[in-house]
Amino acid sequence: MTAYEAAADAIRKALPGRSARVALVLGSGLGSVADAVENPASVSFADIPGFPKPRVEGHHGTLIHGTLSGREVFVLQGRAHAYEGHPLADIVLPVRTLAALGIASLVLTNAAGSLQDEMVPGSLMMLTDHINWSGANPLIGPNDAALGPRFFDMTQAYDVALRAALRRGAEASDVALHEGIYLWALGPNFETPAEIRAFRILGADAVGMSTVPEVLAARHAGLRVAAVSGITNFGAGMVANEILDHEHTLTQGATIAESMTRLLLEFLKDSIHD
Ligand code: HPA
Repeated sequence: MTAYEAAADAIRKALPGRSARVALVLGSGLGSVADAVENPASVSFADIPGFPKPRVEGHHGTLIHGTLSGREVFVLQGRAHAYEGHPLADIVLPVRTLAALGIASLVLTNAAGSLQDEMVPGSLMMLTDHINWSGANPLIGPNDAALGPRFFDMTQAYDVALRAALRRGAEASDVALHEGIYLWALGPNFETPAEIRAFRILGADAVGMSTVPEVLAARHAGLRVAAVSGITNFGAGMVANEILDHEHTLTQGATIAESMTRLLLEFLKDSIHD
């Protein structure tokens, strides 16, 4: 049995009768989005074989099932990052497990730094594309053809129809939604000002330390993907005398969680998920 089949079995036993077509991944400081879940049932990552335990403050490590806007969802409250030392195969195991449980769409959220002067901390950015700057990839190694093909297309990794639904959700919830390109930096350090200047020239609009490995695994497995960044800060060196720290990410995250929740509640009402 594969690792994702074993994990899916454990979840079926822990959450009997629970299924969903949509799953959400909650990023740094965004765990409180899960408070909106109705009729919740949950299982700790510690009780799911192979699931990586998040080791960063602000990440819980709980899989929740319930309804949001009347729609059944799985919610991953907390994620593991490459910089914590987890192998990338472990980081994407939750995505593969959710695919085995029958989800069709994966909605990822994260905390990110802004590379655009007009995209201020506290705002949200829908990902239209990404740049994998990490040099790493969770698909390296023998291909599991039961999951997906060796070579796969990334031209519309961020699903066009889900993006349109996010725009509708933003409109309906009166949340300003920026759009742009996310660059995955491995971390754990924040970037240098020179790196931020370089990433701007490369065409990135936001930078963060997650999401891209999950997107790669999800697209490999044929899932539809959408992703939204909560902007917690400007990139290093963009604001004079500003020092970046994780506290920053978490305190801004609390504000962002409120607008992220409103956006996602509207987005989940959309008939695209039926
Ligand atoms: N850089 C990388 N990751 C981040 C940042 C940043 O500035 N802010 C939040 N996550």
